[in-house]
Amino acid sequence: MNILVTGGTGYIGSHTVVELLNKDHNVIIVDNLSNSKYEVLNRIKRITNKVVTFYQIDVCNKDDLKEVFKNHKIDSVIHFAGLKAVGESTEIPLKYYENNILSTLSLLEVMKEFNCKNLIFSSSATVYGYQSVMPINEEATLSATNPYGRTKLFIEYILKDLCLSDKSWNIALLRYFNPVGAHPTGLIGEDPNGIPNNLCPYITQVAIGKLPYLKVFGDDYDTIDGTGVRDYIHVVDLAVGHVCAIDKITTSPGLVIYNLGAGKGYSVLEMVKAFEKATGRKIAYKITPRRAGDIGTCYADASKAYNEMGFKTIKTIDDMAIDAWRFQQNNPDGIK
Ligand code: NAD
Ligand code: UD1
Repeated sequence: MNILVTGGTGYIGSHTVVELLNKDHNVIIVDNLSNSKYEVLNRIKRITNKVVTFYQIDVCNKDDLKEVFKNHKIDSVIHFAGLKAVGESTEIPLKYYENNILSTLSLLEVMKEFNCKNLIFSSSATVYGYQSVMPINEEATLSATNPYGRTKLFIEYILKDLCLSDKSWNIALLRYFNPVGAHPTGLIGEDPNGIPNNLCPYITQVAIGKLPYLKVFGDDYDTIDGTGVRDYIHVVDLAVGHVCAIDKITTSPGLVIYNLGAGKGYSVLEMVKAFEKATGRKIAYKITPRRAGDIGTCYADASKAYNEMGFKTIKTIDDMAIDAWRFQQNNPDGIK
């Protein structure tokens, strides 16, 4: 199959491209490199011994996208391209609405023009807003608490409306929980700009000595040790989930929605312990007040993806920590 991957040089995209190539799909990547490096393409080649076709274009640019569809007979699209930092989205909301929503509209229009109607969209557990009942299943009420989350929610509605209007679209909305870890080769992984916002890249930067200590945001939640609990999913498992979703949408029509998570939560301090074991180093931390907008516990009901696509995670939190640490050590200043 010829699969177009938008945002394919990014963190989740690059791991998914590797799994698609391992399954002998042809991959065409489009990415504007706003949050990733060209070097990722060389790394993908080193891991798979296969080449991908790459276009450095902005998905918002319909004319450029049309050229890609003219050059290749695209069977399915995985749409990762987007801006993803929650905090930044509250500072520059218009940029988030423009980039995330316009890129999706432009992609859909071009796909329609070229009669390519198989799509996987990167959604997020953020569309569940604040939930009190755990685990969260796909029927839970939806809401968003920040502009980034609202772009995901709006795009989900756009895709649902599209499927209602035209039954020939086959779309999967994949709601990721907390992707972490890196490829076991240490060649690709999460490569954040500046100080990381998310827990795992922050911990590895403490371990390598770039940051002095981890701030643990609150130890007074109603959880095993008072610190926040999340559903961490190894990025390679997550990538495999996309291969399952490609099989699903190309064999059964319509719109499907799946949580992609491990179905189990770990606390911040449990993650710190896993990283101490993986790194053989003490991770310094200080308990600080809760981060605004955080909830205590969030984990997925992952049974639907298993029952309907046969997808389940196999990697442990030790794998997540070991692989994230290998990537950090091999790339102390990120991918260059
Ligand atoms: P990432 O930033 O590493 O990758 C996104 C890629 O898209 C980058 O390479 C960037 O250069 C590219 N891009 C952005 N806007 C573009 C545009 N207009 N045209 C072309 N390329 C563009 O992010 P990621 O962590 O790999 O996330 C991928 C997707 O998954 C995003 O849509 C994100 O919102 C979603 N998601 C991520 C997480 C997470 O924790 N990483 C969780 C839930 C959902
Ligand atoms: C973040 C995003 C969310 C996205 C999710 C999955 C924010 C505010 N939310 O959520 O939209 O869907 O990732 O990718 O970015 N923590 C610390 N110290 C730190 C960093 C985090 O204690 O320096 C704690 C948090 O309080 C939380 C846990 O670690 O309990 C995980 O945090 P993080 O990695 O930021 O992910 P989420 O908050 O789940």
